[in-house]
Amino acid sequence: MRMYDLILKKRNGGKLTKEEIDFFVKGVTEKTIELYHVSALMMAIYFKGMDEEETLNLTLAMADSGEKMDLKLIDGIKVDKHSTGGVGDKTTLAVIPIVAACGVKVAKMSGRGLGHTGGTIDKLESIRGFQTSVEPDKFFDIVNTHGLCVAGQSMNLAPADKELYALRDVTATVDNLSLIASSIMSKKLASGSDCILLDVKVGSGAFMKTYEDAEKLASAMVKIGNGAGRKTVAVITDMDKPLGNTVGNSIEVIEAIDTLKGKGPEDFTLLTKALSAELLRLAGIENPEEKVEEVISNGKALRKLADMVKAQGGDENYIYDTSLFEKAEFTREIKAEKDGYISHMNAETVGIASAKLGAGREKKGDSIDFTAGIKLLKKTGEKVASGETIAEMYTSDKAKFAEAERTFLSAVEYSSEEAKKFPLIYGKIK
Ligand code: URA
Repeated sequence: MRMYDLILKKRNGGKLTKEEIDFFVKGVTEKTIELYHVSALMMAIYFKGMDEEETLNLTLAMADSGEKMDLKLIDGIKVDKHSTGGVGDKTTLAVIPIVAACGVKVAKMSGRGLGHTGGTIDKLESIRGFQTSVEPDKFFDIVNTHGLCVAGQSMNLAPADKELYALRDVTATVDNLSLIASSIMSKKLASGSDCILLDVKVGSGAFMKTYEDAEKLASAMVKIGNGAGRKTVAVITDMDKPLGNTVGNSIEVIEAIDTLKGKGPEDFTLLTKALSAELLRLAGIENPEEKVEEVISNGKALRKLADMVKAQGGDENYIYDTSLFEKAEFTREIKAEKDGYISHMNAETVGIASAKLGAGREKKGDSIDFTAGIKLLKKTGEKVASGETIAEMYTSDKAKFAEAERTFLSAVEYSSEEAKKFPLIYGKIK
């Protein structure tokens, strides 16, 4: 088989066979295929799509490309959650300690930033010493002892996805339904949890811009998960505006910690509680909403996060005293350009502005400036006066401000009337 023929076939709208997909995934895993061939096929798939059978075959081939975690060594029901990616989406950081504090174990594999969206692994690495590369034995041990662990794609689980993920990030081939569904579900199938909650984002900051596309993605993933014997539910949630008030890495971790202390922004707190309750419900826990409130107010959830940070080599003092996080060297205030209401703030553009400050990658393997990012002082729907500060930008490289500010300002639209409100949670697919 030749990669050239696969690319040509897909470019012309053909259907890839199981053998062709297996050949491709094997070559990606063994790094025997040139990256230009891989990139070209990703772009052909991006434009021509894949049908249900091709998507399932790609998912299964990637799930089989490395080891598969057997979570039998961990007692009790294990749950996992995954977001399709958003801007300011630090939900995992707050949800998993809540769920673990309620007695349900979370064995989670997370990713790095992708396209304009951030990744949990990059965020966690802003805590001094935190190790996201965890060997399986240690992973089991941490989950059994503390009830939660978040590992990067280090355990040789779905290594083909790891390669494709990093390549898609820098070749503008992320936002395709089949590529997202197979990327997420290959990891979820390889990582072996009993129950999977998928947070499918929709809106300007999501890979799926319309509700119809988000619903299709949610249905495709739920079908793959349930078909593989995992109890899988998807919740479709808003990503038309950034979630919470921070976009970046360390500043998002601080916001998640504040939320566990009961001092988080309203939208983020609401979503955190709803997703936590949904995970507990999936695990068969009664009165999940009450339990969630309880572990936030009695500090158990915060302690769980600190336990996990310590177990993964990080300094747990960061959780109790967020002033320990390294601060950006430079700050710039961004002013409103008009009087009126902010009628829309394009979340993808805000994510790109944050990446331009150093919070994301331009090339595969680039390092991240953990201190870089944007704090939103005003969000969609709020009234502003011309010249009022609507955001603060942070970076360690002053030269990055000009371009990032231009990008950020292009995201903001004003109107003399209040903006239409969108629900935070649209619905659930089982
Ligand atoms: N998250 C993933 O893990 N993969 C994608 O392709 C998109 C979001």
